[in-house]
Amino acid sequence: MNLTLKIWRQPGPRHQGSMQTYKVTDISEDMSFLEMLDILNEQLNAKGEEPIAFDSDCREGICGSCGLMISGKAHGPEKTTTCQLHMRSFTDGEVITVEPWRANAFPVIKDLVVDRGAFDRIIQAGGYISVNTGSAPEANAAPVPKPHADRAFMAAECIGCGACVAACPNASAMLFMGAKVTHLSELPQGQPERDARVVSMVDQHDHEGFGGCTNVGACSQACPKGIPQDVISTLNKDLRAALRR
Ligand code: SF4
Ligand code: FES
Repeated sequence: MNLTLKIWRQPGPRHQGSMQTYKVTDISEDMSFLEMLDILNEQLNAKGEEPIAFDSDCREGICGSCGLMISGKAHGPEKTTTCQLHMRSFTDGEVITVEPWRANAFPVIKDLVVDRGAFDRIIQAGGYISVNTGSAPEANAAPVPKPHADRAFMAAECIGCGACVAACPNASAMLFMGAKVTHLSELPQGQPERDARVVSMVDQHDHEGFGGCTNVGACSQACPKGIPQDVISTLNKDLRAALRR
């Protein structure tokens, strides 16, 4: 395939950015989107031009570092991560725009790389359990009913990619936070800190500059892990209960 790419270039956090146009040729439909960008960067390197900065790590849909806004959609046209998106999802001759996540709480560092440290600070505020370390406890010592285990497991699939924030018109991180709160509040180990956790995480979320949820649902649509919108209901329920106590 031959493609035209319109890519956001921004030399640094305090510089102004702009869309720049690039052509790539002979792209195999079996390449991933990031492999296609690798090829473009090899071409730029060969010409002595600055390669395009973008984030990636696992390239297996696990780490959450590779998010890009592709032709206006978080992670592009398929329900997957950018690293698992293949070029067969595009057509020969297509013009594709590639931008970083757009959210005040995710400032651009360079080109397509944003600082998602705000997510780390939300986790530091409460997305953990406190346990005494030592040898592994007996697996059946704290029985968890199957429906609770399943829901905790579903919520734990969140990889912290930030697509939910990028897709939300309010740049809200409620789906991300709802996934973390739901994961821990379904399990016995998450109960001792349950109230403090949700209050502290929501405080940090607002402090970071994420917006509020107005039930648009774009977050869940964009989520590559299929985290459902009802985790936000769990978050709100836990927050109301914690504030009442
Ligand atoms: S909820 Fe989904 S879209 Fe949001 S950070 Fe987690 S995996 Fe990414
Ligand atoms: S590079 Fe790890 S999820 Fe895409």
